[in-house]
Amino acid sequence: MVTVLFADLVGFTQRAEKMDPEDVRASLAPYLERVRMELERLGGTVEKFIGDAVMAVFGVPVAHEDDPERAVTAALRILSAIEELNSRRSDFPLAFRVGVNTGEVIVDLSARAEEGDIIVTGDVVNTAARLQQAAPVDTVVVGETTYRATRGRVEYEELEPATLKGKAEPVSAWRATALRLRPVEPTHRAPFIGREQDLALLTQTFARTLREKSVQLVTVAGEAGVGKSRLVAELRRTLSVSGDDVIWRRGRCVSYGEGVTFWALGEIVKSHAGILESDSPEEVAKKLAAAVADVVDDRDDRSWFVARLGVLVGAEGAQAADREELFTAWRRFLEAIAARTPFVLIVEDVHWADAALLAFLDHLVEWGSGVPLLVVCTARPELYGRDLDWGSGKRNASMLTLSPLTEAETAELVDTLSSQAALPGGYACGPARARRWQSALRGRVRSYAARPWVPRVARARHRRRAGSRDPGSRDGSGVDRGASGHAEPGA
Ligand SMILES: Nc1ncnc2c1ncn2[C@@H]1O[C@H](COP(=O)(O)OP(=O)(O)OP(=O)(O)O)[C@@H](O)[C@H]1O
Ligand SMILES: [Mg+2]
Repeated sequence: MVTVLFADLVGFTQRAEKMDPEDVRASLAPYLERVRMELERLGGTVEKFIGDAVMAVFGVPVAHEDDPERAVTAALRILSAIEELNSRRSDFPLAFRVGVNTGEVIVDLSARAEEGDIIVTGDVVNTAARLQQAAPVDTVVVGETTYRATRGRVEYEELEPATLKGKAEPVSAWRATALRLRPVEPTHRAPFIGREQDLALLTQTFARTLREKSVQLVTVAGEAGVGKSRLVAELRRTLSVSGDDVIWRRGRCVSYGEGVTFWALGEIVKSHAGILESDSPEEVAKKLAAAVADVVDDRDDRSWFVARLGVLVGAEGAQAADREELFTAWRRFLEAIAARTPFVLIVEDVHWADAALLAFLDHLVEWGSGVPLLVVCTARPELYGRDLDWGSGKRNASMLTLSPLTEAETAELVDTLSSQAALPGGYACGPARARRWQSALRGRVRSYAARPWVPRVARARHRRRAGSRDPGSRDGSGVDRGASGHAEPGA
């Protein structure tokens, strides 16, 4: 699956006819450069510049599951970048329109491969170009597959089906209007099953941060789909019904390319300060200053914080500083929030985190103290291929390795789902599909103990549990106290 993006300057060709070709090139260059930058920093490959149009592909040569989302994000950023450039060059305002479409393509990797060229062809490409031509000025229009893959993250307006050249039937189209600030939490229609001890471990660790006024890290590890995010969502539900005052912020790591090192942390600070994607750099700076003033009493300190947090959220007046200083500022800000209200910080999918973000989280857990702050990271196994020491070796860090649900729990889940005729993701499904899903899950249960990534201690524990009692675990929660099997945190 590949996502194709077409961006075109509107009405430029006519204007260019009256201009000196040198001037045309000079006026256009900063725009096209900026478009290329926005595409590449989200991992897109610019396939070609055709005059004043750009075609880019996401998913070639390396496919990511979030290619459609990245393409639409890039498209929206292109429009705001153009707006910003226009505001600085009122003599020469330009307008763009963008079309995005997802589907199967034919990739010709041999075509000028030595120059890094990728040639993709297919109906998807043509439709993306046609959607772009049909798009109103200054908008992003996407086709159906892109829409379905991204509607949790992007706000859309449905358009009239477009009659496109070369298409017999009108094509459904949506206009992307904005990125949602926070991904919509999936509505969990299936009841939460099993995992009582895993959930208890998280709530107990939270209780410990309150009791000790300490920073604790729990890494929830396990394969894709095993239930990491769901467990974290259940923690949130549990804490919210307990009535305690808790601040809850969540950031996701994304499998993007350059320039988004601290994305997850940026999301956390933005949501805390109420910063929207659509805010201008001045608005961002104002909101950030207000969020800092809220928790930092000393007026003289405030501007120091604002300048260093600004880097994370793209505020005006952000200051580059050395990494230690940035880390200190960010940590102290998070501590200042936690000092007022107990704080749960979720960082999802740290297997995609840049080494620098992992280093910051490490710094936070190592140096953070005196405030109730629980950091919960979720990670797929590939994290351990990269960072063998992650989440272990500290008195206040532990790891919770999720094993697949037991056969009995799986059967229970499948029973409920078949009776609700819904898959947990919210997709309607019949019993046949539920049965397929059930057998897939059962396969996971069987193959779990053989996985090479499962830390040794967890594997031994699983074997023991599969046998009879588990002498190594006091609470039987399946908690792995770090790959090296050292003692319980704080012990
Ligand atoms: N214990 C459970 N009871 C009921 N449904 C569950 C349970 N665990 C997971 N699910 C459902 O299974 C689906 C996949 O779970 P989830 O999204 O939490 O996986 P994940 O481990 O976070 O995967 P990824 O690594 O892809 O983010 C979700 O729809 C979730 O609601
Ligand atoms: Mg998840």
